[in-house]
Amino acid sequence: MKVLILNGSPRVNGNTTVAINELAKIFEQENIETETLQIGNKDIRGCIACGSCGKTGKCAFDDAVNEIASKFEATDGLILASPVYYASANATLIACLDRLFYSTHFDKTMKVGASVVVARRGGCSATFDELNKYFTICGMPVASSQYWNSLHGREKGDAELDAEGLQTMRTLARNMSFLMKSIALGKEKFGLPQKEEWTPTHFIKK
Ligand SMILES: Cc1cc2nc3c(=O)[nH]c(=O)nc-3n(C[C@H](O)[C@H](O)[C@H](O)COP(=O)(O)O)c2cc1C
Repeated sequence: MKVLILNGSPRVNGNTTVAINELAKIFEQENIETETLQIGNKDIRGCIACGSCGKTGKCAFDDAVNEIASKFEATDGLILASPVYYASANATLIACLDRLFYSTHFDKTMKVGASVVVARRGGCSATFDELNKYFTICGMPVASSQYWNSLHGREKGDAELDAEGLQTMRTLARNMSFLMKSIALGKEKFGLPQKEEWTPTHFIKK
């Protein structure tokens, strides 16, 4: 069982890493493998709506996004961790996620998602909601914790002092582990939910 963690911070060993390390400790205790990819310092452009992924199932820009796609397909859980920038997620992470979720056509149903946000002070809830929307458009259950998943700090390492935030991370990792293990059992017993063919309506009158 494996969790893929995308770190949206451009700062190596910043406060987002503090959050991720706290999660990873618990996943290790739960015998769940983790792989973390730092995204915020990569050169990842946004989607240009060329539509080529509709035919190929992968992004026309063959960069980190397509590499992440194959790791995402193989994982049981995905964590999106981002610093808060102007009450939103890091822009490079968003560019990556738009392309990742739009270009990939593999079934994401019942892969467990969780978002983690890190800020000096404000904008956590808005960013948390923003990130969770990637999960809730594609059948991914969202793991939650004892509070909305935020950690506070400004300079690198400040977040080590946010005891409640760190506890929230540990609780999240335990809850996510339970959910992933329960879903694995459920899949064995019941299989995945039945799927209907998509009925797209684009609100265009013809
Ligand atoms: C461009 C920019 C915008 C920011 N906007 C916010 C903000 O809206 N709210 C906030 O509380 N902190 C804001 N911060 C502070 C970061 O969220 C904070 O320093 C965080 O710990 C960074 O995480 P990192 O160390 O993982 O990069 C901003 C920082 C930068 C560089």
